[in-house]
Amino acid sequence: MRQATQAIHAAAPERRPGEPLTPSLVAATSFHTNPDAVGFSAADLGAEAPLFYTRWGNPTVALLEQRLAALEGGEAGLAFASGMAAASGLMLHRLGAGGHLVISDVCYAGVAEFARETLCRFGVLVTAVDMSDLGAVAAAMRPETRLVHAETPANPILRLADIAALAEIAHRGGAELSVDSTMATPVATRPLELGADWVAHSLTKYACGHGDALGGAVIGRADAVAALRREALIHVGGAISPFAAWLILRGLETLPARMALHQHNAGEVARYLQAHPRLRRVYWPGLPSHPQHELARRQMRNFSGMVCFAADDDKALARQLAARLRVVTYAVSLGKTQSLLFHIPTDDILRSSFGLEGAQAAAYRAWTGEGTFRLSVGLEDPADILADLEQALR
Ligand SMILES: Cc1ncc(COP(=O)(O)O)c(C=O)c1O
Repeated sequence: MRQATQAIHAAAPERRPGEPLTPSLVAATSFHTNPDAVGFSAADLGAEAPLFYTRWGNPTVALLEQRLAALEGGEAGLAFASGMAAASGLMLHRLGAGGHLVISDVCYAGVAEFARETLCRFGVLVTAVDMSDLGAVAAAMRPETRLVHAETPANPILRLADIAALAEIAHRGGAELSVDSTMATPVATRPLELGADWVAHSLTKYACGHGDALGGAVIGRADAVAALRREALIHVGGAISPFAAWLILRGLETLPARMALHQHNAGEVARYLQAHPRLRRVYWPGLPSHPQHELARRQMRNFSGMVCFAADDDKALARQLAARLRVVTYAVSLGKTQSLLFHIPTDDILRSSFGLEGAQAAAYRAWTGEGTFRLSVGLEDPADILADLEQALR
């Protein structure tokens, strides 16, 4: 099956008369079992274990996991309650005291803060590097490095990382590579095919697409995902609700179609913003002016729907846009049908989330200026999005 077909049919139950055409929502937390079928410990969970308890596994969630694995070209998937549960579960599973994590110095704020604060508190050594600088990544590797974690495009500034090159550096150093591909989605990039060991998602975003369910996922090799399930899901406990899994399954059916439209609308918006006299530094991977456009063309089959830009009077402009926009909404999150805009002041995020100073802080500032406007271009008619931006920017 090709991807648009997989999004609708992969792992669907065998066709039988009377079988419903939509996934079944199994809201049960536990399932009939017998004394010989399964033990009470996560260690007893074999590949053939029957359904037992929903934190271990659930039919609706299993369909989501299998469909995601198909879309990513991976052997197995594991769904979590949120993107944060997925990323933190993976890191807790692969790292321990004395182990070393090399992480993108710009990535989703929650993941950056989790690495710098929580993992460090448990004795994990953390080095944050600019993943677009391959020399810096290679220099950061140590004998104890267990995991290299990249995000591409990176939230919020849309800087890219070369997955194939990072996989080579990580593997040469005896480490694994995980890639947060939330903004790219499997429609744009399949990190496992480029050599990554793990791909992580916030399913809350494009995968769900409608802004009505939280979810996360990790996809990788079957044996590795089984071990991840035991520790990061059964023990840490961030299991997704079957209803959220069901909503995300519905969203996934239209993911390839939505991504084509997100890309189209974002292209219209990016070109409009680039020509606007009040704005600076407009980034969208599909713009030839994006500093990594060549990499984007190599690594992304779809340039996604995220655009960011800056302005000289960014704080005043943020207030003006929040008050005036009518089609675009001033709100966090991304990847849903509605267009969303959010302003992230550079000083705040450098201090609170990333803890960057010196050359790394200067590189961030050189890319963004004093603040980043992150625009998730939705599926409204692009003429209405442009007209709304035009009146709000005036
Ligand atoms: C790239 C990325 N990864 C992870 C997350 C965390 O996902 P969630 O909000 O589903 O916990 C986000 C959320 O914004 C994100 O943008």
